[in-house]
Amino acid sequence: MEELVALCKRRGFIFQSNEIYGGLQGSYDYGPLGVELKNNIKNAWWSSMVYENDNIEGLDASILTNPLVLKHSGHESTFSDPMVDCRDCNSRWRADQLADSKCLSCGSTNLTDPRPFNLMFKTSIGPIESDDSYAYLRPETAQQIFTNFKNIVDSSAKTIPFGIAQIGKAFRNEITPRNFIFRVREFEQMELEYFVKPGEDEVCHDSWVEKRLKWWSEQGVSSSKITLYEVPDDELAHYSKRTVDLMYEFPHGVEELEGIANRTDFDLGSHTKGQEELDLVANVMENNDSNARLAIQDLESKKWVVPFVIEPSAGVDRGFLAILNEAYRVEKLEGGKERVVLALKPHLSPIKAAVIPLKKNNSDIVNLSSNIKNKLQKLNIGRIMLENTGNIGKGYRRHDEIGTPICITVDFDSLEDSTVTVRNRDSMEQERVSIEDIEAYVIKKIM
Ligand code: GAP
Repeated sequence: MEELVALCKRRGFIFQSNEIYGGLQGSYDYGPLGVELKNNIKNAWWSSMVYENDNIEGLDASILTNPLVLKHSGHESTFSDPMVDCRDCNSRWRADQLADSKCLSCGSTNLTDPRPFNLMFKTSIGPIESDDSYAYLRPETAQQIFTNFKNIVDSSAKTIPFGIAQIGKAFRNEITPRNFIFRVREFEQMELEYFVKPGEDEVCHDSWVEKRLKWWSEQGVSSSKITLYEVPDDELAHYSKRTVDLMYEFPHGVEELEGIANRTDFDLGSHTKGQEELDLVANVMENNDSNARLAIQDLESKKWVVPFVIEPSAGVDRGFLAILNEAYRVEKLEGGKERVVLALKPHLSPIKAAVIPLKKNNSDIVNLSSNIKNKLQKLNIGRIMLENTGNIGKGYRRHDEIGTPICITVDFDSLEDSTVTVRNRDSMEQERVSIEDIEAYVIKKIM
């Protein structure tokens, strides 16, 4: 993990948040390369969900959430972790993360009894602070998908099975944030709520587990590093009938990358009006607050049906860490040297190609390089960088380390014969390519 953290800081992927004021625990900032990689991960997910499935629609809902939503979702009463205090050193821990009930700081067993600690962040709304003018920062993106169910059904004429996808921030007041960006207090989720006919939920659940494994593998996270964890009944979230967690071999241990849950009709059933007229399977809290019926009318029987929900829910930050971990390698070179390579899949690379002038002060070479960069940038395939440091060797090393799939060097011959040298990150092989063909060449290598 230390090597990854060091690379992230050195090359501008991730910084400790608020670092110049001593940091803010459990928060990280994504730097120039980090934001590109993160956006590429999110775009790959969005594409695979919304663009590749005509029955999945997108949503970008608000983070600030009406407390009634989180009352009826069950989060106000159940979204907590067991917390203990160490009486000897006054540190605070999540009870279920302590081995042998020992304080992780001083080793003492003189701990308080565990008590529930609600993980939701509350914030006041409007200019006057009062007990009843507050909102929550959403603890998962899912709830606003459920509250928008009727809006989306009505506006897009959807019928089951169909899904609603959302990517966005979620906030949890984790008792012990740790392991870099693995467990933080502000993070992003990529969540799909897939609505199906009751009875078709179990087969659909299995198929989403398969689809999600395939997607991670397409991002470079090999299925051999992921194990499926059948969450036992006593660990299931309050809304779940069955959850399969994708457990990845993170640098600090095997932990959850994504959870795929069968949420039954719990959520729509919890947020709907007229619960008594609907044959709900889940045990829900009475709702006299909602003004919408969250159900679909069966066209033949005219009966209102509350769909079941299958939810693949992945963390962007955990995905980022897994992808970085898979791509990172240190290679031995001839002559006892080493190079660090980030062998990212090209569609995820923060920089798609670097154009490097051989001489940084030769205006003809720099101008030609700049023209090539502009031409490639117009392809709209991601960031193309003009790397005018004047040191080809250093340029190659830097771009190996940040995962740039190809470097294009413009030299004196380029001015004569309109060709450039293209170097491949992984094989380090070089070939001469005509400038006329460079766009087609780059598209072929990157897409
Ligand atoms: N809507 C379901 C849900 O939120 P979850 O298992 O609590 O389920 C889903 O969270 C995913 O969100 C996790 O698999 C993980 O990738 C990510 N996640 C959860 N808590 C996190 C945290 N504190 N820091 C980073 N990622 C987190």
